[in-house]
Formats: sequence, structure tokens, C-alpha cells
Amino acid sequence: MQKQRTFSIIKPDATKRNLVGAICKRLEDSGLRIIAQKRIKMTKEQAESFYAIHSNRPFFRELCDFMISEPVVVQILEGTDAVIKNREVMGATNPAEADKGTIRKDYALSLGENSIHGSDSIENAKIEIEFFFSKDEIVG
Ligand code: GTP
Ligand code: MG
Repeated sequence: MQKQRTFSIIKPDATKRNLVGAICKRLEDSGLRIIAQKRIKMTKEQAESFYAIHSNRPFFRELCDFMISEPVVVQILEGTDAVIKNREVMGATNPAEADKGTIRKDYALSLGENSIHGSDSIENAKIEIEFFFSKDEIVG
């Protein structure tokens, strides 16, 4: 049991379908607290840098084009074991494989348009939070 922070993005397919509130409710109902949040239009440079780890994958271009296609909501979630808890609430990357009751099972459209991102480790959460938020934007 450890109080942690993780980073989350509500992706373009979800903002486009007016699902921001529904997704935030799922996160909050799980016990996670949204301690910072903003709606942004990601730039091409931001998307390519954020997903640099996938730059050699065949879906990289499609992924970056998707992430800049509509606004996204970037947010910091805090709570007990926040990294793993968030991943549980999100569900598997491919909605076809996601558990019942997860965000991706209920809202994602496809493997690519899967509604939400969540950091996969404490280390990456820290890097991703610093990528999108300055210290004075995190008010708790
Ligand atoms: P994120 O929380 O978004 O990082 O998802 P993840 O950790 O569950 O998956 P991963 O990091 O492996 O992949 C990052 C993102 O790339 C996924 O969430 C998908 O949106 C996208 N992605 C992964 N595989 C494919 C694919 O085969 N095709 C397309 N179009 N997108 C993919
Ligand atoms: Mg990932």
C-alpha cells in the first residue's frame, strides 16, 4: 500500500464523444483523486516525443496522427497504488480483451482508439507528469 501519482490522458476518441465526465467518474469511483487536469490540443512534436518508445512500431504514425486529431485531457491521478489501480480501471490495451466493467471495455472503439492512456510504472509516471505539467499547475 503506497500513495502514488500516475499520469492519464483521455484520448481524442473519448473527448470527441463527450465521455470526459463518464471516464473521470470511473477513475474517481475507484478511489483515485484527480489532482491536476487540463484540456489541450497535443502538437505533433509532443505526440512524437511522448510516444518515442513506439517510434519503430508500424502503428507509430497512426498513433501520433490520432493523438493530435482532437483535444485530449491530461491529468494527474493520486491514490493508493495509483499506477496499478489506474491500469486496472482502464482495462487491457485492446478493448476486445479488456475485462468487464473497465473503461476500455465499455468505451474504447478499437486497439488504436482506446479512450485512455495510463502510465505503466512509477518511473514513467514521473517522466510523463513532468512532460505535461509544471509544478505550479499541481495544486493537490
Ligand atoms: P497506453 O496507456 O496508451 O500507453 O496504452 P498501453 O500501455 O495499454 O499500450 P502500449 O503502450 O503498448 O501502446 C500505446 C498505445 O499505442 C495504445 O494505447 C494504443 O492506442 C496504440 N497501439 C498499440 N498497438 C497498436 C496497434 O497495433 N495499432 C494502432 N493503431 N495503435 C496501437
Ligand atoms: Mg503504454
